[in-house]
Amino acid sequence: LQRLYHERVVDHYNNPRNVGAFDKTDPTVGTGLVGAPACGDVMKLQIKVDEETGKITDACFKTFGCGSAIASSSVATEWVKGKQMEEVLTIKNTEIAKHLSLPPVKLHCSMLAEDAIKAAVKDYEAKRAKQNGSAEAPLEKAADA
Ligand code: FES
Repeated sequence: LQRLYHERVVDHYNNPRNVGAFDKTDPTVGTGLVGAPACGDVMKLQIKVDEETGKITDACFKTFGCGSAIASSSVATEWVKGKQMEEVLTIKNTEIAKHLSLPPVKLHCSMLAEDAIKAAVKDYEAKRAKQNGSAEAPLEKAADA
């Protein structure tokens, strides 16, 4: 591994940052679960969002996949922490791949990380919309009665 991969891949693979899981039912948590059909690798990336400011206060991941996917998700959690949700949507897999000097055959591994970030933001926003919706529903019912 040492000779084939950039030292950053080896570092993130050996010492992955932010491995773990948040409670996905927590309304402040967004969960992105994505898979790569080509290789069957799966990545779960979660964000914790400050509801007032929309800032990502924490992030974690669990990846069942190759070393490059593990390194990509580890980098992704580091990059999203402390950023606004709109900001992290602009993170491109090519930036992650460049940072890790991934070879072309491993580009899809970094793509998983980009997709997982987007999916986590989407999940958080969907949850929030649902929550706002259901908060209004009882009032409507009360008005009907
Ligand atoms: Fe498929 Fe890395 S080989 S995610």
